[in-house]
Amino acid sequence: MAFKEKINTKKLPRHIAVIMDGNGRWAKQKGFLRAVGHEEGTTAVRDVVEGCAEIGVENLSLYAFSTENWNRPKLEVDTLMRLLVSSLRKEIKTLQDNNIRLNAIGNLETLPKKARKELKEVIEKTASNKRMVLTLALSYGSREELTHCVKSISDKVKNKELSIDAIDESVINEHLYTRNLPDVDLLIRTSGEQRISNFLLWQIAYAELYFTSILWPDFRKENLFEAIYNYQNRERRFGKTSEQLG
Ligand code: FPP
Repeated sequence: MAFKEKINTKKLPRHIAVIMDGNGRWAKQKGFLRAVGHEEGTTAVRDVVEGCAEIGVENLSLYAFSTENWNRPKLEVDTLMRLLVSSLRKEIKTLQDNNIRLNAIGNLETLPKKARKELKEVIEKTASNKRMVLTLALSYGSREELTHCVKSISDKVKNKELSIDAIDESVINEHLYTRNLPDVDLLIRTSGEQRISNFLLWQIAYAELYFTSILWPDFRKENLFEAIYNYQNRERRFGKTSEQLG
């Protein structure tokens, strides 16, 4: 039986986050330039977005470009930015047709002007879509996000808009780039690496981690459904005992 049929749609993860890894290795294995791997990666992005929408996942977040990725060769950075712009242009219709809202997190001011403009346009055009929120993490790093969060809270304390005693977990949540998103339930990383790489450190506190050796350009919705099925067969205790859950 296909994994899709095995999934319990009443117990879906509310928020799935994905570290899309392995584009470079995929290209190298086939004797292509790394850029070809990234291009193929966009096919996987489309398939996984579609898969999430089909079964009713409400939030999908993709690690598309990290703060550390700026250190890659300029040609590769340019390719990734160009792919972002062309994908946004190409996919706006699919997002609209499927009622998907685009969202972006990260230090977005550091993106090239063209990418910022395209992103803003798609975010605005899809703002009232309700079926799913697709979040792209761009120029994103969790430590940068937390630094930004501490600075904004401190600013409010300094201006007497907030007292120190009022700072709790919900205040911190409200000052993160992910302020409107629920905690991550399931974090998937492809390509066999078992690391978090500075992605959503606060938000994955109770996430189930799923690692697969499949390289990102080969990842398809059936692989996503397998990850969700695996997630549904785990016991999430949130610090409690099995008996308490029962
Ligand atoms: C990791 O593979 C992937 C990235 C750094 C970029 C991810 C980008 C895409 C899938 C395409 C663009 C996405 C959107 C949303 C338009 P890697 O290069 O680190 O692979 P390696 O570890 O094998 O070298």
